[in-house]
This record gives sequence, C-alpha cells and structure tokens, in this order.
Amino acid sequence: MRGVILAGGTGSRLFPLTKVTNKHLLPVYNQPMIYYPIRAMMDAGINEILIVTGGNNAGDFLRLLGSGKEFGDLHLNYTYQEGEGGIAAALRLAEHFADGEKICVILGDNIIDGSIRGAADDFRKQEKGARLLLKEVQDAERFGVAELQDGRIVGIEEKPSNPKSPYAVTGIYFYDTSVFDKIKTLKPSRRNELEITDVNNAYIAEGSLTYSFLDGWWTDAGTFESLARANRLVATSAGLVFDEETE
Ligand code: G1P
Repeated sequence: MRGVILAGGTGSRLFPLTKVTNKHLLPVYNQPMIYYPIRAMMDAGINEILIVTGGNNAGDFLRLLGSGKEFGDLHLNYTYQEGEGGIAAALRLAEHFADGEKICVILGDNIIDGSIRGAADDFRKQEKGARLLLKEVQDAERFGVAELQDGRIVGIEEKPSNPKSPYAVTGIYFYDTSVFDKIKTLKPSRRNELEITDVNNAYIAEGSLTYSFLDGWWTDAGTFESLARANRLVATSAGLVFDEETE
C-alpha cells in the first residue's frame, strides 16, 4: 500500500500565519506539521509516500524533507497542484503514483495520538472498496459526518448544520484504485470543490465502504483554535505540563 499526503491549499483560515508559508510547514510543538502524517504512515508500514502540495512555497517541502532519509526507510515523492480545487482534485494527481495499488490518504493537517496500523492491516486484507476512520467529537458540524445504521455507514454529510451523529470522518482514508475513476465522475460542490465526501458516498452506493474508530485523540490544525489544540495535545503527550496558574 502506498501513502498520499495532501498538503496544498491556501491555508486561508490561518491567515496571516500562512501569508508567507504553507500551513503544513507551521510548527506543532517541536516539529513541522507535515512530520506527523509522515510518521503515522511509516508506523503503519507505509514507506512509499507522495506529497501533493501547491502554492508559492512548494519548494520549501523539498528543502525541509529532501529525500526523507532522516525518517529512515522512507521513499518520498512530490507533485504540484496548480490552483485550487478541493481534496478530491488534489488526490486525482496521485493516480500515476498509485499505479494500481491501494492507497492510504492523510490530510496533512490531521494529527493523531494513536496508531493507524490496525486499520491499515484490516484494509490490506479487505478485497476492495474503501475504509474510513471515525472519531466521536463535540463539534461534528465542522467535519464530514457519518450516519450509522446497524453498524454500517449509510451516508456522509459534509459540514451539516444538524449532524445526524457525533461521528466525524477523519482525514485518514484508505482507498482501492477505483477511487480515481470515482473522482472523474464528481461535480464541483456549492463551494466549487471536488469533495472527498462525495467520493466516500460513491463507495457507500457501491456497498464497499468499511470503517474503524480511531483510538486516542485526533485533531485537525487548520484553524487558530485547532492549531492551538494540536500544539497543546502533542506537547502534553510529550510530557510537557501546562501551568494554568502562570501570571
Ligand atoms: C475536510 C473534509 C471533511 C473531514 C475533515 C477532516 O474538511 O472535507 O470531510 O471531516 O477534512 O479534517 P476541511 O476541514 O479540510 O474543510
């Protein structure tokens, strides 16, 4: 299985932090954000990784990561997204890299505490289709939200004002190679993007979508609040104690 990390976008929700750099190069405690999805993939035995980026700072990824050798047995590849277009549009650029293999896709601003090894192994055994990782959250309206019935996902809504469940679809996805044909059938959404939620709903329609719940904490880091939370969660996991009483 190969890995695809999506690290494009304008980072507009983090402006002016993203005025001169890419969101995924910002610090999360003691490491650049992009390090976390790379480590999550390597921990799951995925060491052939494509980074999809764009914008004015794409060259900085190469300066930061180079060949990836500081991570150990990692084979890094890069591609460049012209303009915007949504998560599914960025993923489309990975078709050649995937070369018919299954892929694990992580949104570069998703940071986890636990491991995706178990989910990756389950997907390696899954004959076809896709697998999502869900997490129960308090603010489901910020995410894609899965509706469950009899232990199956029957629908996913993107950022619904009245979520049908507290289960967010995290930005960690496993797909078979049919994902690229599914992307080609998509129409732009109201926000003029090719939505990953529409890809996932296409797998539901086909009856081939499975899921697991993610263990440990999970956060995105694409807004001021979630970036601050990501820093705090990572630092706390590393043993840093925040003193709320400081003056
Ligand atoms: C994206 C997806 C959403 C998913 C989220 C996870 O949203 O569209 O379905 O739940 O990532 O981080 P974004 O926050 O990029 O708009």
